[in-house]
Amino acid sequence: MAERKPADISEAEIAVHWQEEGYFHPPASFIAQANLTDETVYDRFALDKFPECFKEYADLLDWYKYWEKTLDTSNPPFWKWFVGGTINACYNCVDRHLPKNRNKTAIHFVPEPEHEPVHHLTYQDLFVRVNELAALLRDFCGLNAGDRVTLHMPMVAELPITMLACARLGIIHSQVFSGFSGKATADRIVDSESHVLITMDAYHRAGKLLDHKEKADVAAAEAKKEGHAVDKVLVWQRHPGAYSSPTPLVAGRDFILNDMLKDYRGKRVDPVPMPAEAPLFLMYTSGTTGKPKGCQHSTGGYLAYVAGTSKYIQDIHPEDVYWCMADIGWITGHSYIVYGPLALCASSVVYEGVPNHPDAGRPWRIAEELGVNIFHTSPTAIRALRRDGLEEPKKYNHHFKHMTTVGEPIEPEVWKWYYGVVGKRQAVIVDTWWQTENGGFLCSTVPALRPMKPGSAGPGVPGIHPVIFDEEGNEIKTGSGKAGNICIRNPWPGAFQTIWRDPERYVAQYYARYCRDRTSKDWRDWPYMAGDGAMQAEDGYYRILGRIDDVINVAGHRLGTKEIESAALVVAEVAEAAVVPVADEIKGRVPDLYVSLRPGINPSKEISARILEAIITQIGPIARPRKVWIVPDMPKTRSGKIMRRVLAAISNNKDPGDISTLANPEVVDKIRDMVGQ
Ligand code: WTA
Repeated sequence: MAERKPADISEAEIAVHWQEEGYFHPPASFIAQANLTDETVYDRFALDKFPECFKEYADLLDWYKYWEKTLDTSNPPFWKWFVGGTINACYNCVDRHLPKNRNKTAIHFVPEPEHEPVHHLTYQDLFVRVNELAALLRDFCGLNAGDRVTLHMPMVAELPITMLACARLGIIHSQVFSGFSGKATADRIVDSESHVLITMDAYHRAGKLLDHKEKADVAAAEAKKEGHAVDKVLVWQRHPGAYSSPTPLVAGRDFILNDMLKDYRGKRVDPVPMPAEAPLFLMYTSGTTGKPKGCQHSTGGYLAYVAGTSKYIQDIHPEDVYWCMADIGWITGHSYIVYGPLALCASSVVYEGVPNHPDAGRPWRIAEELGVNIFHTSPTAIRALRRDGLEEPKKYNHHFKHMTTVGEPIEPEVWKWYYGVVGKRQAVIVDTWWQTENGGFLCSTVPALRPMKPGSAGPGVPGIHPVIFDEEGNEIKTGSGKAGNICIRNPWPGAFQTIWRDPERYVAQYYARYCRDRTSKDWRDWPYMAGDGAMQAEDGYYRILGRIDDVINVAGHRLGTKEIESAALVVAEVAEAAVVPVADEIKGRVPDLYVSLRPGINPSKEISARILEAIITQIGPIARPRKVWIVPDMPKTRSGKIMRRVLAAISNNKDPGDISTLANPEVVDKIRDMVGQ
């Protein structure tokens, strides 16, 4: 197996080094009502209680058959949780709440256009709609447990409905972020071998009604080029009863779900009891080799972990109105908009649009109107709302008891605005560090038990035991002031099971580096490597610095630098491409793209525009570089390797260091002049 090579320059290396901050203590009013106030939790979840401690989380769920073995480690690092148990995720998120909470709102759908009323779906409504769709998926599409279905849906109530209908039947859903292009969707369709694509005709974003169905046509065509057939495209209508896309339907392939579902009225489908370790969904994320990888999440372990962390870290009670402003197309939305909150019978808000549409007061108006008391978002959104409306939250009468930040490091100044102005000093904040691969939170304070510290995620959550290793695999001591690679010593139920169709890469990328003995069946020999740089303060709190591999975290979303580079290389004139992370005030990091052209071709605005276009078509607007720098030549080592370290230094206005060993040091000044202007 290939050794993992760290990128030439990583996010962690360009990370700002903030001062250690002081503590902020949770208000007494929060502690008085919190789900977790018992200090013994850290003992109950200590390493010597592992793995049995996680029974506490699994017992939050209803099982058809109780498990026989909490953790099976016979084939490391392919851990199996709650072995022998059977369970259904949809049953746990919907059916079991009906006897007591049929009339309670499960989902508040907030359309982006402010004049459109909020839709409140009760648990009964959710039950009816999920059943009817499940009947259609089974009877019309012929789908069965274990089949994969790709979803490419925007932020609408139909998205959780569709996910839960799949889960009801044991169908593995793979939701692709709606902002991704048709081509990116096709890659995920082909990899997951799904023959049904579920999409929506259109959706509202930033004041426009976007055509979304056109991307389904691109996806099907691109998949076909790879020899893969999309047999059916099921299309939800954003405005039921009307087709809102200018793109025509393809006869025999495309079906309007809203019409078809009329034939399934009143149909009920029994939830299928699934083995605890049956896959619930795939979530594609960027990795180090360019190709997005399908993180495979389990049913029982995953659901137990998101229910437990939603209850104890998010402090969700059934009576709460909970709003996570992430997109369900990312892991945060799966775990902390859909599965965690609904498993706990909360009311979960699904907001269609961008936070600052039509102005930076929108989130606070929504919170005020719905009585949201738990709010969850990313530093990028907080920075943008702060920039556009420093005093805006003060105009509204919203009251949060709890706020979350996730996805990237949050600057202490931004944290303090979130705390003081958005939270009115009444809310606790949890800074939650975790990844697509992890299913749920890894580091965070338990909000009623530990004080907050701006800029720090906090210690491992109960049952998670992090450790920082240096390059040689030595443990870096707490409080030493040194950074290293953060790893987790033990498995946990929310962890992904493997990379879909690529178990070798799963082992190589996450476990090989610090594995002590490849033949060992003892989980203690198999720490999980996250790929982030981190340091731990004296008090045990972790500060996450950013990615150490060739992944860039843009606005809290992971993008592989190789993905962007290969998209640029689609343009025939481009000879070489290199992407580096650059610090950005709002998005945290953005990619800067350097390209050199084939001999004899002159740089032009037109070529730059085509490169940008290629990136948007191949991946989506989220991958748009800050700038395309067409350079005369790439700085290279004598062996011909592009020195991304030098480019990253130039992009970030830093000293590129010793360049005397380059094959072409003279090019550095030329590039610096160009970028400096
Ligand atoms: C980064 C998102 C600092 C980190 C849930 C990680 C964070 C990557 C934090 C995963 C945080 C996430 N503080 N950095 N609180 N949370 N990250 O897979 O680099 O989209 O590896 O999962 O985001 O991004 P992903």
